[in-house]
Amino acid sequence: MKHLLSTADLSRDEAIGVLDTAAQMAATQSREIKKLPTLRGRTVVNLFFEDSTRTRISFETAAKRLSADVINFSAKGSSVSKGESLKDTALTLHAMGADAVVVRHWASGAPAQLAHAGWLDAAILNAGDGTHMHPTQALLDAYTIRRHLAGPGAPRGGAGDEGVGADLAGIRVAIVGDVLHSRVARANVRLLHTLGAEVTLVSPPTLLPVGVHTWPCRTSYDLDATLAGWQPDAVMMLRVQRERMSGGSGAFFPSPLEYTRYFGLDARRLALLGDHAIVMHPGPMNRGLEISAEAADSDRAVIVEQVANGVAVRMAALYLLLSGTTEGISL
Ligand code: CP
Repeated sequence: MKHLLSTADLSRDEAIGVLDTAAQMAATQSREIKKLPTLRGRTVVNLFFEDSTRTRISFETAAKRLSADVINFSAKGSSVSKGESLKDTALTLHAMGADAVVVRHWASGAPAQLAHAGWLDAAILNAGDGTHMHPTQALLDAYTIRRHLAGPGAPRGGAGDEGVGADLAGIRVAIVGDVLHSRVARANVRLLHTLGAEVTLVSPPTLLPVGVHTWPCRTSYDLDATLAGWQPDAVMMLRVQRERMSGGSGAFFPSPLEYTRYFGLDARRLALLGDHAIVMHPGPMNRGLEISAEAADSDRAVIVEQVANGVAVRMAALYLLLSGTTEGISL
């Protein structure tokens, strides 16, 4: 693996390799080995053309914990705002000797263009591109699901101690909300399918993309029926991306009250779930719209844990890409 652009590119073994390596990285952190020397002398550039809190900070933390040098580049305040192109930005990063470039861009496909255009010789990690993909988010989500729901003694069982080596076979995941604009949903559907999980997308018809019937998942317009009847093990709420609805995307957004009534997760809907089921959200949340405060702060919610797991997963991704190995770390 030279780049991490899309979860559709990952085989089952590659995905499990990332999750297992992330588990090893997390073990080093829990043993209070805060810094590994693994990427000493390597340079990681965080290139963000769109806002981010979790992804940018956790990539920076991950790179620093691997002893890499980190350069943070935000389009705001850079020469991009003077019209500099992606190509010229990439050539500048090449001149700086970047070994890895973590890129978030509003345009779907921008990370793939950086990877394949030959402008720089660096590993490209997609940190979210348009409505297309967010592979490290899906990997940290799978890691979180595995920790709670797979492995010995877990509700669905699985191989290996503490879930190591296990896939997500038979685990049911409901992904709820604004699928149309969600790179998180697209990345998760592909990865969860690869790992053997079953996925149901629950959304208003107007917030499902054209062509969703070709995706490896089911769809539903009825959240109550999905929660009570299908009994998902994990419910992943999506952020309503109102900022992507004003550009003539054609999406009809129901009124916020209607949306919350039919597609919001609240205490009543939490009670429809099995005792073991977990609640997820990639963040940032619209509290009171797609998720109530009671649901977001409930014992079932693993939303803060998802953020913490993001550091271990991004350490694993950087390590595997920059060390050129498919093996786990040796500590
Ligand atoms: N989940 C996620 O991508 O969050 P940020 O936009 O804060 O990075």
